Order: sequence, then C-alpha cells, then structure tokens
Amino acid sequence: MAILPILHFPDPRLRNPAQPVARVDGALRALLDDMLETMYAAPGIGLAAPQVNVSKRVIVIDISEERNAPHYFVNPEITASRGAEVFEEGCLSVPNIYENVERAEWVRVKALGRDGKAYELEADGLLAVCIQHEIDHLEGKLFVDYLSELKRSRIRKKMEKLRRHTL
Ligand code: NI
Repeated sequence: MAILPILHFPDPRLRNPAQPVARVDGALRALLDDMLETMYAAPGIGLAAPQVNVSKRVIVIDISEERNAPHYFVNPEITASRGAEVFEEGCLSVPNIYENVERAEWVRVKALGRDGKAYELEADGLLAVCIQHEIDHLEGKLFVDYLSELKRSRIRKKMEKLRRHTL
C-alpha cells in the first residue's frame, strides 16, 4: 500500500472526465487499497481517483467514526435520487475550505465492488452527500463549482497563494 499525492484546485487535471474501468483486477484492487490508505491518512471521508491523478471511475468512502467500514465504488452510477438537503462540504483537493452545497437527500447508486461484483446501495444523510460529491469528481466537477463566481475566484486565489508558500 502507498500514500498517493493529492491534486489541489485549481489543477486542470481535476477537470478531466474519468474513464470507465474495464476489469476489476489485481492492479485495480491495489489502486483501491492505495486510495483508501491515502484517504485515511489525509484524513478524509471520501476520495475519487482523479484526485490522485488516475483517470478512472473509482471512488472510496468511509464515513464511520472507527474508520473501518470502507465502501468501494467502481463505475458508480446514480440511478435514482430525491429530495434536497444543504450540507457544509469540504474536499481534500480544496483544503481548509468549507461551504454549503445543496444536493439530493437520498440516492440509489449502482457500482462494482472491490470483488468486481455489481451491487446497489441506497443512502441518505452524509453518505448520500459524499457519494454525490465523489461522483462529481469523476466528471471533473468540484464542490466549488456550486458556489458563486466571486466566491470561487477568492478560493482560487487563496489556493494559489498557499501553493506558492508550500512549494
Ligand atoms: Ni472532493
């Protein structure tokens, strides 16, 4: 297992739509394990492959307090959603920024698991928010895209300044 470097907004690589996974094999499982380790170390509750510069439709999530209940989503797709809820979100690719975003309050998602088998999951609350946030990453979309242009440009400036100081 390895901890992978995480790309930060406004890195243009975060904007590329990710490619579907053809086969869940050993290499893909190694990626899932590395992503999980990277997410736990960060620490975060969700991570999408484009955030670690891998253009694949792969997500890991763990919202448990104990950090021992990982969810693996390969080629995830939201097949139903309803309601609306506002949550304060953050993102490992936009460190130290937290803003309110409105999303569906309930979703049904289908995906392949770590074993390559198809499954379906229904989620609400934090898990539903997290699934929608991470699937956005697969489309090259970030939570700051839901904010006003003014707010987003302020965050961009802050990130660029931060990067200059941490090089
Ligand atoms: Ni994120």
